[in-house]
Amino acid sequence: MMSRPTDIIKGHSQAETPQGSPPDIPKLMPGGNYIKIGRDSAKSTCLVFAPLAEEVGVLAKCLNIFKQHGVNLLHIESRPSARIRNNYEFMVECAPTGDLASAIAEIKKNTEYFNIISRDYKDNKDTVPWFPCRIRDLDKFANQILSYGAELDADHPGFTDPVYRARRKYFADIAYNYKHGEKLPHVDYTEEEIETWGKVFDQLTTLYPTHACKEHNHVFPLLIENCGYRRDNIPQLEDVSNFLKDCTGFTLRPVAGLLSSRDFLAGLAFRVFHSTQYIRHPSKPFYTPEPDVCHELLGHAPLFADPSFAQFSQQIGLASLGAPDDYIEKLATCFWFTVEYGLCREGNELKAYGAGLLSSYGELQYALENKAEVRPFEPEKTAVQEYPITQYQPVYYVAESFEDAKEKMIKYAATIPRAFGVRYNAYTQSIEVLDSKPQIESLVTNISTEISVLVDSLKKL
Ligand SMILES: [Fe+2]
Repeated sequence: MMSRPTDIIKGHSQAETPQGSPPDIPKLMPGGNYIKIGRDSAKSTCLVFAPLAEEVGVLAKCLNIFKQHGVNLLHIESRPSARIRNNYEFMVECAPTGDLASAIAEIKKNTEYFNIISRDYKDNKDTVPWFPCRIRDLDKFANQILSYGAELDADHPGFTDPVYRARRKYFADIAYNYKHGEKLPHVDYTEEEIETWGKVFDQLTTLYPTHACKEHNHVFPLLIENCGYRRDNIPQLEDVSNFLKDCTGFTLRPVAGLLSSRDFLAGLAFRVFHSTQYIRHPSKPFYTPEPDVCHELLGHAPLFADPSFAQFSQQIGLASLGAPDDYIEKLATCFWFTVEYGLCREGNELKAYGAGLLSSYGELQYALENKAEVRPFEPEKTAVQEYPITQYQPVYYVAESFEDAKEKMIKYAATIPRAFGVRYNAYTQSIEVLDSKPQIESLVTNISTEISVLVDSLKKL
């Protein structure tokens, strides 16, 4: 679940007014954001540097500079540099203490390579907006949420229902305490919740054969077979996540509230999708003002099992890492008109692949009844299209294929002003920041080896 100035997910309200206290650590701060107190990764600054020359005690010398300027370090790492041969690189995470600017100035004088990655990047052209580099870094922003999932707007169907509100807090707490690598918590859904799911399931599944794209229709029976998709059973996130992992490496992660667009998109770079686990209020089974488990599991999950769609989604995520704010907005808009509301061409027909459509009985029909305006998906134009979040979309964008949409996204990403390239290393589940020739030369060598294997295999056919 992600939010944006105007929230990204259809009819998914944002800016909820906090009504109570979320569990444990978070505290309501001015501005309405829940900020983790203590070891606050959102306020820390990461410095990556390679000293001028390898010498004994070089790390101690650098650490002393931080000490002299009263900067506390939260994490220190060293590794052989991929950028500079025969040298080491250090990554230090600095707490927002002391005179960090002076420490940085002094360290810079003694380094061959230097980079700053920080959440505090505004008005500082030398600072790259913080982004997760390893998959476990997703824990660092999992609870940097704009509103806690247990808080409901006054016009939410469950606003005056104490039982529903308690249930929402239960789900939010599960997600709040989740850490990367843990099993996704099993939930025993109530009879009433299962009944709501059943109503939505029955209604939508009548439309899928004629309205959903072929990829969705290919995967859906597999979810019935492998993950317990039935009208009388709400599938467990753990089962769906494991299924997706086997198909494309995508996994689900529970989320306690609305994430910023930057954080939500960053998850996609790792093929991680932040998912809600609660269900809409039983009084209005065919309406939800926010994403719920019906939207995630019926709308999103089937497509993440498709290799081309998974790659396309990851490309949006990779493009977002370290991108300027205005481009985050544009990428989030591209996400909106594709992953949420996308249509695709199948022969002479249009079909839906966006999760907002595949989880909305009314809009799924509306979008395909030739009443709505449709345009070809072109990222540079789609990225600046305005849209409503509580009504049907005035325009839908059509992808020729997921492969085509992916190629277009890659080309669009190349126009984003960013002083480095990024690549996801699936072996280490980490992001490689590409900003030096030796790194790229080494990758080209690796790719050449892989191409040789493919060419040899081709010769055998
Ligand atoms: Fe969604």
